Amino acid sequence: MKYILRSLTTLPAEKLPRIAEIHLGDAGLLSKLGYPFVLRYFENAIKDERAFGFYAQDAETKEIMGFSLASPEPSALTSKLTEDKAWFIKNILKVIFTRPLAFLQMVISSITIRAQMYESNTIECVYFTVDTKFRGRGLGRSLQKALMDEGHKKGYKKIYASVETWNIASLKATQANGFKIIRTYHEGIYHRHRLESEL
Ligand SMILES: CC(C)(COP(=O)(O)OP(=O)(O)OC[C@H]1O[C@@H](n2cnc3c(N)ncnc32)[C@H](O)[C@@H]1OP(=O)(O)O)[C@@H](O)C(=O)NCCC(=O)NCCS
Repeated sequence: MKYILRSLTTLPAEKLPRIAEIHLGDAGLLSKLGYPFVLRYFENAIKDERAFGFYAQDAETKEIMGFSLASPEPSALTSKLTEDKAWFIKNILKVIFTRPLAFLQMVISSITIRAQMYESNTIECVYFTVDTKFRGRGLGRSLQKALMDEGHKKGYKKIYASVETWNIASLKATQANGFKIIRTYHEGIYHRHRLESEL
């Protein structure tokens, strides 16, 4: 499997739906809110000056295979979802009526994210996701490692990640990249490990 890792800043706008489609393979809250939220989130993320990330592209077919995203302030990315009030109200009403538990989880998670204290010089591995057909061949680990190398280059000292306790693939990749579990906690329906690594 030959691939090239590129910065998300070089992603052509018409490829954002592909990133959103791959992201729906993540079992987290953003996916539960649905495709419009996922697409809007990544539209904002690639424009955000402090967030950074990578996508993997098949060297031959050019297909996008997976991506990773980090930020020193993940709550800023989530807050941007509410900036266009009309868009947010229209879409969140749909969630409230069709998936009320996802809405409840959103309230709980936004409180938790805001309460998470970030020291200066730290970043969060916000997402790393690989298309199901390319999993289990080291790509997830490389995409996360690329965030760590770039974070180090940018002068950050530490990286954090939260991983659901059942998510063995993510835990293995994260621990192989040198992260250590610092605590385990409940966040609504989620039971997560909090991990950290020096950069
Ligand atoms: C987590 C994820 C990005 C890992 O990507 P990947 O390319 O499959 O991971 P890697 O091939 O780099 O594998 C990392 C390790 O996990 C292991 N692994 C991969 N899939 C596994 C599975 N389904 N069950 C158990 N172990 C698995 C690999 O064998 C490897 O372990 P090793 O280093 O001991 O050999 C991918 O599974 C994914 O996209 N999941 C959905 C999104 C997600 O959960 N993201 C993380 C949110 S915290």
